[in-house]
Amino acid sequence: GPRALIGPSILNADLADLAAESNRLLDAGADYLHLDVMDGHFVPNLTIGHPVIKCLRRRVPAAFFDMHMMVERPERWVQPMADAGADQYTFHVEAAGDVAAMVRHVREAGMRVGVALKPGTAVDVVTPWVDRVDMVLVMTVEPGFGGQSFMADMMAKVRYLRENFKDLDIEVDGGVGPVNIDACADAGANMIVSGTALVTSSDPAQAMMTMRTSVTR
Ligand code: DX5
Ligand code: ZN
Repeated sequence: GPRALIGPSILNADLADLAAESNRLLDAGADYLHLDVMDGHFVPNLTIGHPVIKCLRRRVPAAFFDMHMMVERPERWVQPMADAGADQYTFHVEAAGDVAAMVRHVREAGMRVGVALKPGTAVDVVTPWVDRVDMVLVMTVEPGFGGQSFMADMMAKVRYLRENFKDLDIEVDGGVGPVNIDACADAGANMIVSGTALVTSSDPAQAMMTMRTSVTR
């Protein structure tokens, strides 16, 4: 069955200290890093791009970089992100013109393929492609900002995917923390992104332990 992995989102960390914050969370037990790339067009916010990832990779040599691409025309950044050292490239189905071509492009660049769904997008928009991707990201907030409230009704999409695609990696992202991890685990998510709940935690190691235990149960 799918692994239970916890991936902090560093969007709300001190971005002026991205390497130190990343290593702090990895030392606290993070299984991977979830890196939020925003272009100011697909979402009304702007964060980091492949030049920053290239530098981060030199300071964080071993971690799995899960790139959450909240960008228009996601095909533009596939090769630059692969060259920068990204491990997984998760594009939004709402931004991809030709999903099959995007999947091929990411695979040819040597990265795991993720496809993301905004809250307003029905899960059957991605079901034709699920057999070709490594992971589906079910957003549990409207993309663009950390620190928003968890949308519990999105668990129906997670449950549907888990029931129909047993070995699929299913990631949840947005407002997730120890208080709502059980809902995510019960629905079948196995890759857990958590930003504010971990970055602001006085004991991120304990918070990650709690969440991993719940998902592994
Ligand atoms: C929002 C991002 C999420 C967010 C998670 O657009 O995709 O990764 O930063 O952070 P929290 O857990 O604070 O919602
Ligand atoms: Zn994200």
